[in-house]
Amino acid sequence: MPRRALIAGNWKMHKTAAKAKLLAEQLAAAGQNATDRDILLAPPFTALSAVEEGVRGSGIIVAGQNVCWEEQGAFTGEISPVMLKDLGATAAIVGHSERRQIFGETDTMINRRLRGALHQGLTMVLCIGETLDERESGDTLAILERQVRSGLAEVSSAQMASVVIAYEPVWAIGTGKTATAGQAQDAHGFIRSLVSDLYEKDIGNSVRILYGGSVKPANIDELMAQPDIDGALVGGASLDAESFGRIINYK
Ligand code: 13P
Repeated sequence: MPRRALIAGNWKMHKTAAKAKLLAEQLAAAGQNATDRDILLAPPFTALSAVEEGVRGSGIIVAGQNVCWEEQGAFTGEISPVMLKDLGATAAIVGHSERRQIFGETDTMINRRLRGALHQGLTMVLCIGETLDERESGDTLAILERQVRSGLAEVSSAQMASVVIAYEPVWAIGTGKTATAGQAQDAHGFIRSLVSDLYEKDIGNSVRILYGGSVKPANIDELMAQPDIDGALVGGASLDAESFGRIINYK
């Protein structure tokens, strides 16, 4: 079975509810004919409900940008998987490099978030990626291996059907420096073989691996032509209906 492509927009800390809803409606229209791929939008928590209304009936997946592992409790500032589902989200991102770097999230914490939300039935996008220093020191594959192993610790084979991995080299995020299609393919091939080793070959073959980092209308086609790139996690270019509309409709 070929892997179904997934094009995801991470809106980060952008857009109030009304603006998010408008963009969601525009994207639902733009994606109407893109029926052979999945589309996911991750607005800020405060706009989840508005975005869910904006895309209702379109098949677009609505996701949180992070999620706590507990259902409820004394976790000031956190949002639980049950709360995400209450607003119509069916997915969540964890492990984004901005969470790791700016907010000090650890591999252990990210794994807890992933497992807690999988337990509640959410589809999970696990982000991994090396910094420029790590790449220049030749540590890229070791870093990716550590992040995959710890991110997926105690995740069962059955749960892997609900896991998507997003490779986002930190040096390519918001910098305009995309990894070349070849660099991205090399990393994706490595991640897929690692998942095959950790689970079984079928799971390695079926897990979707997205590329993120300065994805634009101008580079999406070449990225998507790579054998192990199954989609994109788009930041800046997902904030505008025209550019994300073009990315969604890649060839
Ligand atoms: P940019 O597309 O703005 O580089 O951001 C990528 C990203 O971090 C998506 O999660």
